Amino acid sequence: MGKKPMLSNSLIEKDRAHYFHPVVPIRAHEERGVTVMQSGKGVFLTDANGNELLDGFAGLWCVNAGYGHESVVEAAAEQMRRLPYATGYFHFGSEPAIELAAKLAELSPGDLDHVFFTLGGSDAVDTVVRMVRYYFNARGETSKKHFIALEKGYHGSSSNGVGLTALPVFHDKFDLPMQWQHHIASPFPYRNDAATGEAIIAQGVANLKAKVAELGADNVAAFIMELVQGSGGVIVPPDGYARAMQDTCRELGILFVVDEVITGFGGTGPMFGCEHEDLTPDFLTTAKGLTSGYAPMGAMFVSDRIYQTIADAAPDGMPFGHGFTYSGHPGSAAVALEVIKLYEGGMIENAKTVGAYFEAQLKTVLDHPVVGDVRSKGLLAGIEIVSNKDTKAKPAKDKDVPGRLAKTGYENGVIFRAFADDVIGLAPPICISEAEIDLLITRLRATLDKRITP
Ligand SMILES: Cc1ncc(COP(=O)(O)O)c(C=O)c1O
Repeated sequence: MGKKPMLSNSLIEKDRAHYFHPVVPIRAHEERGVTVMQSGKGVFLTDANGNELLDGFAGLWCVNAGYGHESVVEAAAEQMRRLPYATGYFHFGSEPAIELAAKLAELSPGDLDHVFFTLGGSDAVDTVVRMVRYYFNARGETSKKHFIALEKGYHGSSSNGVGLTALPVFHDKFDLPMQWQHHIASPFPYRNDAATGEAIIAQGVANLKAKVAELGADNVAAFIMELVQGSGGVIVPPDGYARAMQDTCRELGILFVVDEVITGFGGTGPMFGCEHEDLTPDFLTTAKGLTSGYAPMGAMFVSDRIYQTIADAAPDGMPFGHGFTYSGHPGSAAVALEVIKLYEGGMIENAKTVGAYFEAQLKTVLDHPVVGDVRSKGLLAGIEIVSNKDTKAKPAKDKDVPGRLAKTGYENGVIFRAFADDVIGLAPPICISEAEIDLLITRLRATLDKRITP
């Protein structure tokens, strides 16, 4: 590491002047300058200065299959040569989009048999909001407007979904959340007064019931949750929590929506996280691992029952007024089909076995003096840094633990997400081997050892 910079200054200057980056502190980014990635193979990235890095975060928890799969590149190139675009409007379609919808319906839990394609996770969540509204209006239940989500949840950055997100930087100065968007406590075992999993589950059920009672059951449309709260700091609810929330939704007559944008496609082991607790949500959202990040695409799944109501609702000949130019893009669909072949061809099995190894190895980091908590489900993990293990005190803000962690990790050849609240997020590609996990943990330990003294 520490090679002399070969990156042309002009790239940094152009970035500084013109590239408005997502979710960075803007002035700090201008001062720091961009880090340019150049190529990738397997779980490794190479930056423009020639540094090789183990990507412990699969890009942005999306490159589940890893980098450099020629079969995926070929599938995209072949589709683009033959037919780069076909709309889903005008009753048109393309072979890959149709095949992908059928494949996803086969793989998905319960009767989530109908798939609406989006460009990513945010618009998949927005599509849920629009469909839920349409559904209840079609049924004449026109007062059912309110949505309930979890504190520390992330449901994307679009105008509707971002109010269901519950992370302060996404709301501050954006006039959010809206009056129909509500949040209940996160099922966060490490920072919870409830001592056991059962108690946290009981608390979650009671909170949901209380919120619905407060708003009036006739006014509440849906409850949405992630199975692992990713961007909130990789919070893993106790086993049975999601199932209990689903049961409570059914009891209360509100829809149950699962956001699997990061847990889908092997993140927690199986193809869908819903498989852990045999969940059958009314809506499910995915993106990211769907194409392993090789092309933009998301998908929203809706249950047959709700689909049939929506399909019957519009008068004959009136279109369902929701869609995107790139819904079901043939190039992205071809990529997704090829990526799913890789998943089914061994990577999901790998995610399960290597995921168990990863979880066990990661637990060893708990003995480190600055590590307060290690939490994980399969290959999704969070390590929380504290200044006092007994009191769980957070490090002082002015120590900039996340900034120092990210910098030191990079110098040690490992990329992870350094969340603002002193949590290291890990989500390595699901093709990772045990030897690569060992390397990841070694580099992580070296990073914790080096400069992190909160
Ligand atoms: C759970 C969850 N939902 C939705 C989104 C939004 O997806 P996208 O960034 O593709 O719009 C994300 C992105 O990280 C996510 O983690």
